[in-house]
Amino acid sequence: MDNNTDNSDINRDIHTINSMINSLTKQFLCCTALIKMDFIVLEEYKTYNLKLDIQKQILDHTINNDLIKRYPIKTSYQKAFLKLLMQKIEEGDNEIHDDLYAAYCRLISLSDEESVHYRHFLIQNGTLNCVTLKESTNLISQGTTGLCSWQGAIVLSQWCAENKEQFCGKNILELGCGVGLTGMNVISICSPKQYIFSDCHPTVLNILCENVKLNFLSNERSELLDTSDTTSKLQLQLKYEQTNIKVIDLKWEDINEYMLENSLQPDIIIAADILYDSNSFGALTLGLKRLLTSNNYAIFAATIRNEDTVSQFLEHLGILIIIYVC
Ligand SMILES: C[S@@+](CC[C@H](N)C(=O)[O-])C[C@H]1O[C@@H](n2cnc3c(N)ncnc32)[C@H](O)[C@@H]1O
Repeated sequence: MDNNTDNSDINRDIHTINSMINSLTKQFLCCTALIKMDFIVLEEYKTYNLKLDIQKQILDHTINNDLIKRYPIKTSYQKAFLKLLMQKIEEGDNEIHDDLYAAYCRLISLSDEESVHYRHFLIQNGTLNCVTLKESTNLISQGTTGLCSWQGAIVLSQWCAENKEQFCGKNILELGCGVGLTGMNVISICSPKQYIFSDCHPTVLNILCENVKLNFLSNERSELLDTSDTTSKLQLQLKYEQTNIKVIDLKWEDINEYMLENSLQPDIIIAADILYDSNSFGALTLGLKRLLTSNNYAIFAATIRNEDTVSQFLEHLGILIIIYVC
Protein backbone atom coordinates (compact mmCIF):
# COMPACT_ATOMS: atom_id res chain seq x y z
CA MET A 1 0.00 0.00 0.00
CA ASP A 2 1.50 3.39 -0.94
CA ASN A 3 1.53 6.52 1.22
CA ASN A 4 -1.43 8.12 -0.61
CA THR A 5 -3.64 5.09 0.02
CA ASP A 6 -2.53 5.08 3.69
CA ASN A 7 -3.47 8.74 4.09
CA SER A 8 -6.86 8.38 2.45
CA ASP A 9 -7.64 5.37 4.72
CA ILE A 10 -6.65 7.42 7.78
CA ASN A 11 -8.79 10.38 6.61
CA ARG A 12 -11.75 8.11 5.99
CA ASP A 13 -11.33 6.60 9.47
CA ILE A 14 -11.15 10.04 11.12
CA HIS A 15 -14.23 11.13 9.17
CA THR A 16 -16.14 7.96 10.19
CA ILE A 17 -15.14 8.38 13.85
CA ASN A 18 -16.16 12.04 13.88
CA SER A 19 -19.52 11.40 12.26
CA MET A 20 -20.19 8.51 14.67
CA ILE A 21 -19.36 10.74 17.66
CA ASN A 22 -21.46 13.63 16.28
CA SER A 23 -24.42 11.35 15.64
CA LEU A 24 -24.27 9.82 19.14
CA THR A 25 -23.85 13.26 20.73
CA LYS A 26 -26.86 14.69 18.89
CA GLN A 27 -29.06 11.74 19.90
CA PHE A 28 -27.80 11.75 23.50
CA LEU A 29 -28.25 15.49 24.12
CA CYS A 30 -31.97 15.40 23.29
CA CYS A 31 -32.53 12.07 25.10
CA THR A 32 -33.47 10.03 22.04
CA ALA A 33 -35.14 6.85 23.27
CA LEU A 34 -32.34 4.28 23.55
CA ILE A 35 -34.42 1.74 21.72
CA LYS A 36 -34.46 4.12 18.73
CA MET A 37 -30.85 5.16 19.14
CA ASP A 38 -28.87 4.78 16.00
CA PHE A 39 -25.85 2.69 16.96
CA ILE A 40 -25.43 1.40 13.44
CA VAL A 41 -22.25 3.35 12.82
CA LEU A 42 -20.93 2.16 16.12
CA GLU A 43 -21.78 -1.42 15.25
CA GLU A 44 -19.99 -1.04 11.94
CA TYR A 45 -17.12 0.26 14.03
CA LYS A 46 -16.71 -3.01 15.90
CA THR A 47 -14.72 -4.26 12.97
CA TYR A 48 -12.37 -1.28 13.24
CA ASN A 49 -11.83 -1.75 16.98
CA LEU A 50 -13.37 0.89 19.24
CA LYS A 51 -10.17 2.04 20.82
CA LEU A 52 -9.86 3.58 24.28
CA ASP A 53 -9.25 7.07 22.91
CA ILE A 54 -12.48 6.91 20.88
CA GLN A 55 -14.42 5.80 23.98
CA LYS A 56 -12.98 8.77 25.84
CA GLN A 57 -14.05 11.13 23.03
CA ILE A 58 -17.59 9.74 23.15
CA LEU A 59 -17.67 10.21 26.94
CA ASP A 60 -16.37 13.78 26.71
CA HIS A 61 -18.94 14.73 24.05
CA THR A 62 -21.87 13.18 25.93
CA ILE A 63 -21.89 12.58 29.72
CA ASN A 64 -18.88 14.87 30.37
CA ASN A 65 -20.03 17.58 27.94
CA ASP A 66 -19.95 21.07 29.56
CA LEU A 67 -23.54 21.65 28.43
CA ILE A 68 -24.63 18.57 30.40
CA LYS A 69 -22.71 19.70 33.48
CA ARG A 70 -24.51 23.05 33.36
CA TYR A 71 -27.94 21.88 32.19
CA PRO A 72 -28.17 18.16 32.98
CA ILE A 73 -30.42 15.71 31.19
CA LYS A 74 -32.11 13.19 33.42
CA THR A 75 -29.75 10.98 35.42
CA SER A 76 -31.58 7.73 34.62
CA TYR A 77 -31.10 8.42 30.90
CA GLN A 78 -27.38 9.16 31.30
CA LYS A 79 -26.94 5.91 33.23
CA ALA A 80 -28.87 3.85 30.69
CA PHE A 81 -26.93 5.43 27.80
CA LEU A 82 -23.57 4.68 29.41
CA LYS A 83 -24.60 1.11 30.22
CA LEU A 84 -25.66 0.57 26.60
CA LEU A 85 -22.43 2.11 25.32
CA MET A 86 -20.34 -0.20 27.54
CA GLN A 87 -22.37 -3.15 26.34
CA LYS A 88 -21.70 -2.21 22.70
CA ILE A 89 -17.98 -1.85 23.44
CA GLU A 90 -17.87 -5.27 25.08
CA GLU A 91 -19.78 -6.82 22.19
CA GLY A 92 -16.89 -5.66 20.01
CA ASP A 93 -14.41 -7.44 22.34
CA ASN A 94 -12.90 -4.17 23.48
CA GLU A 95 -11.55 -3.18 26.85
CA ILE A 96 -13.59 -0.44 28.58
CA HIS A 97 -11.87 2.86 29.42
CA ASP A 98 -11.52 3.50 33.18
CA ASP A 99 -13.22 6.89 32.81
CA LEU A 100 -16.40 5.19 31.60
CA TYR A 101 -16.49 3.08 34.78
CA ALA A 102 -15.78 6.18 36.89
CA ALA A 103 -18.59 8.09 35.18
CA TYR A 104 -20.96 5.17 35.69
CA CYS A 105 -20.08 4.92 39.42
CA ARG A 106 -20.68 8.65 39.80
CA LEU A 107 -24.05 8.40 38.07
CA ILE A 108 -25.30 5.47 40.13
CA SER A 109 -24.49 7.40 43.31
CA LEU A 110 -26.91 10.16 42.22
CA SER A 111 -30.64 10.17 42.80
CA ASP A 112 -32.57 9.82 39.57
CA GLU A 113 -35.91 11.15 40.63
CA GLU A 114 -35.75 14.68 39.21
CA SER A 115 -39.11 15.98 38.03
CA VAL A 116 -37.50 18.42 35.59
CA HIS A 117 -34.37 18.20 33.48
CA TYR A 118 -32.93 19.75 30.31
CA ARG A 119 -32.78 18.56 26.71
CA HIS A 120 -30.55 20.00 24.01
CA PHE A 121 -31.68 19.92 20.40
CA LEU A 122 -29.08 20.33 17.66
CA ILE A 123 -30.40 21.35 14.27
CA GLN A 124 -28.03 21.52 11.35
CA ASN A 125 -28.87 24.14 8.79
CA GLY A 126 -25.67 25.52 7.36
CA THR A 127 -24.61 26.38 10.89
CA LEU A 128 -25.27 24.20 13.94
CA ASN A 129 -28.06 25.55 16.12
CA CYS A 130 -28.51 24.35 19.70
CA VAL A 131 -31.74 24.92 21.63
CA THR A 132 -31.70 24.09 25.34
CA LEU A 133 -35.04 23.44 27.00
CA LYS A 134 -36.13 22.83 30.55
CA GLU A 135 -38.77 20.10 30.50
CA SER A 136 -40.62 17.69 32.72
CA THR A 137 -39.10 14.22 32.91
CA ASN A 138 -42.61 12.80 32.37
CA LEU A 139 -44.72 12.98 29.20
CA ILE A 140 -47.77 13.97 31.21
CA SER A 141 -47.40 15.88 34.45
CA GLN A 142 -49.44 18.41 36.40
CA GLY A 143 -52.42 17.49 34.23
CA THR A 144 -50.84 18.69 30.97
CA THR A 145 -49.06 17.23 27.97
CA GLY A 146 -47.25 20.51 27.42
CA LEU A 147 -44.27 20.19 29.76
CA CYS A 148 -42.09 18.25 27.34
CA SER A 149 -41.29 18.46 23.63
CA TRP A 150 -43.23 16.14 21.34
CA GLN A 151 -42.14 14.43 18.15
CA GLY A 152 -44.22 16.87 16.07
CA ALA A 153 -42.19 19.80 17.42
CA ILE A 154 -38.91 18.12 16.48
CA VAL A 155 -40.07 17.38 12.93
CA LEU A 156 -41.72 20.80 12.49
CA SER A 157 -38.48 22.49 13.66
CA GLN A 158 -36.51 20.60 11.05
CA TRP A 159 -39.10 21.37 8.36
CA CYS A 160 -39.10 25.10 9.19
CA ALA A 161 -35.28 25.12 9.08
CA GLU A 162 -35.40 23.54 5.62
CA ASN A 163 -38.01 26.11 4.47
CA LYS A 164 -36.68 29.12 6.31
CA GLU A 165 -37.39 31.59 3.50
CA GLN A 166 -41.13 31.12 4.22
CA PHE A 167 -40.65 32.46 7.75
CA CYS A 168 -38.02 35.14 7.28
CA GLY A 169 -39.47 38.62 8.08
CA LYS A 170 -42.96 37.18 8.81
CA ASN A 171 -45.36 37.43 11.75
CA ILE A 172 -45.84 33.98 13.19
CA LEU A 173 -48.29 32.73 15.78
CA GLU A 174 -47.79 29.31 17.37
CA LEU A 175 -50.76 27.59 19.01
CA GLY A 176 -50.28 25.16 21.92
CA CYS A 177 -46.51 25.71 21.85
CA GLY A 178 -45.67 23.79 25.05
CA VAL A 179 -42.11 24.39 26.27
CA GLY A 180 -41.21 26.11 23.00
CA LEU A 181 -39.00 23.87 20.84
CA THR A 182 -40.45 24.83 17.44
CA GLY A 183 -40.46 28.55 18.14
CA MET A 184 -36.89 28.61 19.50
CA ASN A 185 -35.67 26.99 16.29
CA VAL A 186 -37.76 29.20 13.99
CA ILE A 187 -36.49 32.34 15.75
CA SER A 188 -32.84 31.24 15.70
CA ILE A 189 -32.77 29.89 12.18
CA CYS A 190 -35.47 31.73 10.18
CA SER A 191 -35.31 35.32 11.56
CA PRO A 192 -39.07 36.09 11.61
CA LYS A 193 -40.25 39.67 12.27
CA GLN A 194 -42.48 38.59 15.15
CA TYR A 195 -42.93 35.26 16.89
CA ILE A 196 -45.83 34.77 19.29
CA PHE A 197 -45.70 31.67 21.49
CA SER A 198 -49.13 30.81 22.89
CA ASP A 199 -50.40 28.21 25.32
CA CYS A 200 -52.94 28.16 28.13
CA HIS A 201 -51.49 26.09 30.98
CA PRO A 202 -49.92 28.19 33.78
CA THR A 203 -47.00 25.80 34.50
CA VAL A 204 -46.31 25.39 30.78
CA LEU A 205 -46.26 29.19 30.38
CA ASN A 206 -43.83 29.55 33.32
CA ILE A 207 -41.36 27.01 31.95
CA LEU A 208 -41.80 28.45 28.45
CA CYS A 209 -40.85 31.94 29.71
CA GLU A 210 -37.78 30.45 31.45
CA ASN A 211 -36.80 28.70 28.22
CA VAL A 212 -37.24 31.82 26.09
CA LYS A 213 -35.00 33.76 28.50
CA LEU A 214 -32.47 30.92 28.68
CA ASN A 215 -32.07 30.77 24.90
CA PHE A 216 -32.41 34.43 23.95
CA LEU A 217 -31.80 36.73 26.86
CA SER A 218 -28.26 35.73 27.79
CA ASN A 219 -27.13 37.45 24.65
CA GLU A 220 -26.14 41.06 24.02
CA ARG A 221 -28.29 41.07 20.85
CA SER A 222 -31.46 40.83 22.95
CA GLU A 223 -33.51 43.21 25.08
CA LEU A 224 -36.29 42.53 27.59
CA LEU A 225 -39.34 44.69 26.85
CA ASP A 226 -41.88 46.05 29.31
CA THR A 227 -45.15 44.12 29.65
CA SER A 228 -46.75 46.25 32.38
CA ASP A 229 -48.92 48.45 30.12
CA THR A 230 -50.32 45.59 28.12
CA THR A 231 -53.03 42.94 28.64
CA SER A 232 -52.57 40.35 31.37
CA LYS A 233 -52.44 37.73 28.64
CA LEU A 234 -48.97 38.93 27.69
CA GLN A 235 -46.49 37.03 29.87
CA LEU A 236 -43.17 38.04 28.35
CA GLN A 237 -41.93 40.28 25.58
CA LEU A 238 -38.43 40.69 24.25
CA LYS A 239 -36.50 41.64 21.19
CA TYR A 240 -33.89 39.19 19.92
CA GLU A 241 -31.89 40.43 16.95
CA GLN A 242 -34.61 41.41 14.43
CA THR A 243 -37.40 39.35 16.03
CA ASN A 244 -40.05 40.59 18.46
CA ILE A 245 -40.84 37.67 20.73
CA LYS A 246 -44.02 37.44 22.77
CA VAL A 247 -45.37 34.77 25.08
CA ILE A 248 -49.14 34.95 25.51
CA ASP A 249 -51.64 33.04 27.59
CA LEU A 250 -54.14 32.15 24.87
CA LYS A 251 -56.81 29.48 25.07
CA TRP A 252 -58.20 28.44 21.69
CA GLU A 253 -61.64 29.16 23.16
CA ASP A 254 -60.60 32.83 23.64
CA ILE A 255 -59.08 33.57 20.22
CA ASN A 256 -62.08 35.58 18.99
CA GLU A 257 -62.18 37.73 22.13
CA TYR A 258 -58.40 38.19 22.02
CA MET A 259 -58.55 39.36 18.41
CA LEU A 260 -61.26 41.88 19.22
CA GLU A 261 -59.07 43.41 21.94
CA ASN A 262 -55.62 43.11 20.32
CA SER A 263 -54.23 43.49 16.86
CA LEU A 264 -53.22 40.01 15.80
CA GLN A 265 -52.56 39.42 12.11
CA PRO A 266 -50.27 36.44 11.73
CA ASP A 267 -48.84 35.66 8.30
CA ILE A 268 -48.37 32.05 9.35
CA ILE A 269 -50.02 30.05 12.12
CA ILE A 270 -48.07 27.00 13.19
CA ALA A 271 -48.65 24.17 15.63
CA ALA A 272 -47.15 20.81 16.52
CA ASP A 273 -48.86 17.81 18.06
CA ILE A 274 -52.02 19.53 19.20
CA LEU A 275 -54.43 17.15 17.41
CA TYR A 276 -54.92 14.51 20.09
CA ASP A 277 -58.14 15.39 21.92
CA SER A 278 -61.24 15.54 19.73
CA ASN A 279 -63.08 17.41 22.51
CA SER A 280 -60.87 20.42 21.81
CA PHE A 281 -61.44 20.45 18.03
CA GLY A 282 -64.54 22.67 18.16
CA ALA A 283 -62.68 25.51 19.91
CA LEU A 284 -59.48 24.94 17.92
CA THR A 285 -61.17 25.04 14.50
CA LEU A 286 -63.35 28.04 15.40
CA GLY A 287 -60.21 29.88 16.54
CA LEU A 288 -58.34 28.86 13.38
CA LYS A 289 -61.16 30.03 11.11
CA ARG A 290 -61.09 33.37 12.91
CA LEU A 291 -57.32 33.63 12.40
CA LEU A 292 -57.21 32.51 8.77
CA THR A 293 -57.73 35.09 6.02
CA SER A 294 -57.02 35.03 2.30
CA ASN A 295 -53.53 36.37 3.09
CA ASN A 296 -52.23 33.79 5.52
CA TYR A 297 -52.04 30.05 6.10
CA ALA A 298 -51.48 27.44 8.78
CA ILE A 299 -48.96 24.62 9.05
CA PHE A 300 -49.67 21.80 11.48
CA ALA A 301 -47.32 18.95 12.33
CA ALA A 302 -49.24 15.97 13.59
CA THR A 303 -48.04 12.61 14.81
CA ILE A 304 -50.77 10.30 13.56
CA ARG A 305 -51.63 8.03 16.46
CA ASN A 306 -55.20 7.53 15.38
CA GLU A 307 -56.43 8.22 11.81
CA ASP A 308 -59.99 8.83 13.07
CA THR A 309 -58.87 11.68 15.34
CA VAL A 310 -57.25 13.53 12.44
CA SER A 311 -60.29 12.88 10.21
CA GLN A 312 -62.51 14.37 12.91
CA PHE A 313 -60.31 17.46 13.01
CA LEU A 314 -60.51 17.85 9.21
CA GLU A 315 -64.30 17.42 9.33
CA HIS A 316 -64.54 20.18 11.92
CA LEU A 317 -62.31 22.39 9.85
CA GLY A 318 -64.01 21.84 6.51
CA ILE A 319 -61.53 24.11 4.68
CA LEU A 320 -58.09 23.73 3.21
CA ILE A 321 -55.10 23.56 5.52
CA ILE A 322 -51.62 22.23 5.03
CA ILE A 323 -50.95 19.31 7.31
CA TYR A 324 -47.40 18.19 7.61
CA VAL A 325 -47.46 14.56 8.64
CA CYS A 326 -44.62 13.00 10.59
C1 LIG B 1 -49.05 17.58 23.21
S1 LIG B 1 -48.66 19.22 23.77
C2 LIG B 1 -47.67 19.78 22.40
C3 LIG B 1 -46.72 20.85 22.83
C4 LIG B 1 -45.78 21.33 21.72
N1 LIG B 1 -46.51 21.91 20.62
C5 LIG B 1 -44.89 20.21 21.25
O1 LIG B 1 -45.18 19.64 20.16
O2 LIG B 1 -43.93 19.87 21.93
C6 LIG B 1 -50.20 20.13 23.51
C7 LIG B 1 -50.16 21.57 23.98
O3 LIG B 1 -51.41 22.21 23.65
C8 LIG B 1 -51.83 23.02 24.74
N2 LIG B 1 -53.30 23.12 24.72
C9 LIG B 1 -54.19 22.11 24.90
N3 LIG B 1 -55.45 22.58 24.86
C10 LIG B 1 -55.35 23.92 24.65
C11 LIG B 1 -56.32 24.97 24.50
N4 LIG B 1 -57.61 24.72 24.58
N5 LIG B 1 -55.86 26.23 24.30
C12 LIG B 1 -54.53 26.48 24.20
N6 LIG B 1 -53.57 25.52 24.33
C13 LIG B 1 -53.98 24.26 24.55
C14 LIG B 1 -51.33 22.27 25.98
O4 LIG B 1 -51.19 23.12 27.11
C15 LIG B 1 -49.99 21.72 25.49
O5 LIG B 1 -48.94 22.60 25.76
